[in-house]
Amino acid sequence: MSRKTTGIPGLDGMIQGGFPYPSAILVAGEPGTGKTTLAVQSLFHGASEGEKGLYITAISEPQWLVQRFLSSFSFYDQQLVEKGVVNFIDIGPTLAKNPSDILSTIKKQIEQYHPVRIVIDPITPMTDMLQWRGETREFMHELFAYLKAFECLAIITAELSYDDISHSQESYMVDGVVMLSYPEEEKVRRKFLEVLKLRGTKHTTGRQLIDITDEGLAVQAGLR
Ligand SMILES: Nc1ncnc2c1ncn2[C@@H]1O[C@H](COP(=O)(O)OP(=O)(O)O)[C@@H](O)[C@H]1O
Ligand SMILES: [Mg+2]
Repeated sequence: MSRKTTGIPGLDGMIQGGFPYPSAILVAGEPGTGKTTLAVQSLFHGASEGEKGLYITAISEPQWLVQRFLSSFSFYDQQLVEKGVVNFIDIGPTLAKNPSDILSTIKKQIEQYHPVRIVIDPITPMTDMLQWRGETREFMHELFAYLKAFECLAIITAELSYDDISHSQESYMVDGVVMLSYPEEEKVRRKFLEVLKLRGTKHTTGRQLIDITDEGLAVQAGLR
């Protein structure tokens, strides 16, 4: 099986060398657990090896604000953005005006940029917006089918807790699920990463301690 290194120190060793390629990986966790950091760090890791990366968001937060937050990390490389190796796209306006056009907008961007790594961060506002129309399931089904057919490593983030994940539709439709969390234990909060599933991969189980620093996110394998 072909794999792509993740760019997250400590993670490749947990998953036989990297994410299967092609594949769609769900990175789930509550706000602030490190989903954006993990996803974008992987995007820049690929880009540093010449792989085109596409970051798609639909949050109302302006894209420059997201980029300013990310640019404080050492993996963020403005040159790769200027050269168009990494592209940031905000489809918030489409989501606000024509929610039903979300899928075709995403497809159009992917066909335009032909990325090797794609990040959709987070998918939650898209699925929430389509919920009241009863279109969520169909949207996710079509999106994941499309991403799987397109040769790429897709990292999709979702604002989901451990309680949500077992009955979330997303987790059934993807090749892998990485859960991030920061439970309060003995009055201290520590951040964790757990690989819940990964197709064709003997992976480490259980929550592993992670660290987020200026260098980005790293798994401290073996530590608990
Ligand atoms: N330079 C840094 N050093 C240490 N921790 C940081 C740094 N930058 C961000 N963080 C931590 O990472 C968290 C943000 O992670 P983020 O990837 O935005 O999470 P999510 O996308 O899941 O909401 C912050 O809540 C903060 O705790
Ligand atoms: Mg985020």
